[in-house]
Amino acid sequence: MRIAIYQFSPVKGQINLNLEKISRAINRYKADLWVLPELCTTGYVFSRVEEVRKLAEHTQTGYTAEILRNLTRDHGAALVMGMIEVSGDRLFNSAVVFDRGELRAVYRKVHLFYEEKKWFSPGDEPPPVIDIQGVKVGVMICFDWAFPEMARSLTLRGAQVIAHPANLVLPYCQDAMLTRSLENRVFTATANRIGQESQPSGFGLKFTGRSQITAPNGKRLGRLTKDRSGILIRTIDPQLALDKSFSPLNDIFQARRPEIYQLGKPII
Ligand code: ACM
Repeated sequence: MRIAIYQFSPVKGQINLNLEKISRAINRYKADLWVLPELCTTGYVFSRVEEVRKLAEHTQTGYTAEILRNLTRDHGAALVMGMIEVSGDRLFNSAVVFDRGELRAVYRKVHLFYEEKKWFSPGDEPPPVIDIQGVKVGVMICFDWAFPEMARSLTLRGAQVIAHPANLVLPYCQDAMLTRSLENRVFTATANRIGQESQPSGFGLKFTGRSQITAPNGKRLGRLTKDRSGILIRTIDPQLALDKSFSPLNDIFQARRPEIYQLGKPII
């Protein structure tokens, strides 16, 4: 499977312009699976919920959906990326999965980061695992990295690759994903954005780039810079993610002891 990550700086509020950038990248390079950043058609730093609502779309019927349907159909590719979803009165920080002209899944971010809590409702469904050309692809969004249960549960459900759209501002995730890869013996593709965004009040965030693809042995297969747009393409052998052994006598999944782990509410 050929995986491509596109790292860029979306122009805030300009859905058409960002979709043009995305189309140009996908028209230029061939890949089976594209992974793009979180909220990559709209930008990320907002001041008022009305601003967010104006940029929200239906994932099945909106303008973005139409473009992504055509793009993935024309290129025989799949694409995972973040967008603002509206459903009834609620807004979600969602990742859509389009595959060769079809919307295959929508994941509504479960663990909202910082001011996202002001605009978005948290998702309450488990993240999807989708079969894309015979490869099981799981999806999580940005801050989900800090909850190892997410990557673990995706992998227990068969994910060989975790597609991870992101708008990272803290410096920890890229290194942490090496461990997520190793402990689950899974490939990960983190597509982060670059650039800065601010509110009129002066509050702003700087995004950390360094998008990367990691392998089940915990190694980076490649990464982009902290501040430049770019495309990272790697061909992976998804079969490698089916081998969960650390030694001939240690299969990390067979050896699990879920009856020992207490994963309920914290006592502290
Ligand atoms: C994040 O979840 N966008 C840090």
